Amino acid sequence: METRPDYKSYDSLVEDEIKFWSRELVKSIRKGIPINLDYSNSHLFKESGKSNDIYFHPEVYKEMYDKSFLLDKSTIRYGKALDLVCGPGWLARELNKRGMDVEGLELNPFIVGVANLYSRKRKNNKFTLKYSVSDLNKAVFEKEKYDVICADSGLHHISKIDRLFRQISKALKPGGRFVFREHIDRDFPTSILNIITLPIVFMAGYKNYWKVAKKARSLIKETFYMVFNRGETMEWGSAFEDAGASEIVSCAKKYFNVEIERYSFTIFTPVRVIADSNLELDKKIQWINYFMKIDRKLNQNGFHGECVEFLLTKR
Ligand SMILES: C[S@@+](CC[C@H](N)C(=O)[O-])C[C@H]1O[C@@H](n2cnc3c(N)ncnc32)[C@H](O)[C@@H]1O
Repeated sequence: METRPDYKSYDSLVEDEIKFWSRELVKSIRKGIPINLDYSNSHLFKESGKSNDIYFHPEVYKEMYDKSFLLDKSTIRYGKALDLVCGPGWLARELNKRGMDVEGLELNPFIVGVANLYSRKRKNNKFTLKYSVSDLNKAVFEKEKYDVICADSGLHHISKIDRLFRQISKALKPGGRFVFREHIDRDFPTSILNIITLPIVFMAGYKNYWKVAKKARSLIKETFYMVFNRGETMEWGSAFEDAGASEIVSCAKKYFNVEIERYSFTIFTPVRVIADSNLELDKKIQWINYFMKIDRKLNQNGFHGECVEFLLTKR
């Protein structure tokens, strides 16, 4: 099993991973960021005029992280659903509200506890919703049990992607669907595009040169790493950051029929810098819209962004 960094055992990495996501969740809750972090629950966002955090501004959040694909009527169905890497369970709850019996799987027992706490608040819902602790590098699923299996932004933390995708294929009913939205890391052209487009943020009146320079430095370092395979420290704190990212697309095509394959977040770094800036909210949204339009065009013209959406069917 792939482990990183090399000197740590798998079990101690799993411990680090659990601690990391517990800390992240507590930080979010303390800040007032809703557990149902999705634009469809924008009324739960605490509006704060002063905060630069994108999570407090539903319009900014929606424009950057449009997750409607995962809830689209043409992708989800009635029946049984399994939400993988479910976290505190926003997707599981949304599918449940839309009339599915849902199971959510998650590595972190504390997060499963929080998800259960929130699911108890459901009103008059006759469909079942159940969360369990499970390490998806080891999980074994029942054969042909689910109509839909889905995942949002967590499969890249799974080091045994090939094994997991085989389990998913087995667990789907004939004609069943696997729908996910996933981070697949930047490739070489995407890194270059992010470096080139980063200075454009100054046109948006964003003057924090030091922050832009720091982002540019890490992008250049990353690009050198891709070319010369030089070592680079991970920017994020997850022990399994991007563990399975490079395998996701090839495994999707290996085990499933592809109905939809869509990329986004090609020029995400400048967008993120603008989102974090002190610009007036209206101006910020205007510039983010502008960059996201360019992003969509780039992806339609063959660039692979950092994120992919797949609608797959069982073979
Ligand atoms: C970025 S969060 C996404 C959570 C959720 N899908 C959401 O959209 O809010 C990634 C989640 O993957 C979970 N995770 C990491 N490794 C895992 C594993 N081996 N098995 C199951 N879950 C795992 C983490 O605990 C974390 O909650």
